[in-house]
Amino acid sequence: MAIPDEYPYIRYLAAKKGADDRALNRHVLQSLATHLTNSGNGLPPDVLEVGAGIGTMLERLAVWGILKNARYEAIDLETGHIDEAVRLVPLWARDHGFVLGEDIASAFCLERNGGRISIRFETIDLHRLIERERGRRNRDLLIAHAFLDLFDVPRILPGLISLMRPGGLLSLTMNFDGLTILEPPIDTDFDREILALYHQSMDSRVIDGRPSGDSRTGRRLLTRLREEGVEILAAGSSDWVIFPVGGGYHGDETYFLHFIVNLIESSLKGHPRLDPDRFARWIGIRHSQIERCELVLIAHQIDLLGRVVDPSTFTAQSTAACAPVHPPTWTDVNPKTTGTVDPSSPPPFR
Ligand SMILES: C[S@@+](CC[C@H](N)C(=O)[O-])C[C@H]1O[C@@H](n2cnc3c(N)ncnc32)[C@H](O)[C@@H]1O
Repeated sequence: MAIPDEYPYIRYLAAKKGADDRALNRHVLQSLATHLTNSGNGLPPDVLEVGAGIGTMLERLAVWGILKNARYEAIDLETGHIDEAVRLVPLWARDHGFVLGEDIASAFCLERNGGRISIRFETIDLHRLIERERGRRNRDLLIAHAFLDLFDVPRILPGLISLMRPGGLLSLTMNFDGLTILEPPIDTDFDREILALYHQSMDSRVIDGRPSGDSRTGRRLLTRLREEGVEILAAGSSDWVIFPVGGGYHGDETYFLHFIVNLIESSLKGHPRLDPDRFARWIGIRHSQIERCELVLIAHQIDLLGRVVDPSTFTAQSTAACAPVHPPTWTDVNPKTTGTVDPSSPPPFR
């Protein structure tokens, strides 16, 4: 594939789905499946996905059988992303044996094996949604995938938690955590400097006058969530590992890699610490490594599953105190014994 002239974001979101499928932490995913199954009141959970993009997480959770019954609402800021999600639902749903009902342009109902997922999409800014729903506290599950690292987490978390009922679950996956590796090296010191500046650019990003992003979101969530009254039920890494296989890359990951190299270029173009010609040469070499199927990308990310503690019982003390840690038992993690995840669909559990 030649170096692209343009980098449509929707194509990037589609291209990264396979990489995300492989990377999602299986222990955290199984923990989500187990807690959803055991949540107990018999009603389908009210699910809200924020920053849903083109709907790949909904597709994954439905097709993999993790969500069987749910009322699923997916929001995104970009109309184009929501339109694409709406366009894609009937395609993947029919491919995977769902019977599809459609109410209005942005609402669907999927049925399979006695389960029913009703879906509603909406284009709305998360901040507006939080404002609109303030105080309702009715969601059973909030999903934010590849999303929270775009925000100032201490600022956004209380608003997100305010959407949740006490005991509700937070599935916060693919939170970038401060490490990008590109192999093979070009010039070790320069490689290191560029990637450090790239991470700094995430830390200093400002959108609409607000600090927006943190290159160490993954690790920060592990402490921040507890401070906000969220008990962490499961956590683990979900690193992207993109590598050549059989003379190419998986799916559309050639484009995915060009997109990432272009993202590094656009984030650092004109940076006072970088010699422009040397940087342009470095970017050119990275693109040609992709064309020759040599480039390997690793990005460290962390997945978490949390549960909102009842605010009437929450004190900083209660989450700060150490509870004994019980290692997962075989039945916690083995899909064959829990039966909560269809083991034939996702890749094997680690
Ligand atoms: C990195 S993408 C991830 C999309 C999707 N979760 C996925 O992994 O394919 C981040 C998404 O968040 C959306 N987004 C960014 N800021 C937002 C906001 N303030 N409110 C709602 N969505 C937002 C973007 O439009 C984009 O679709």
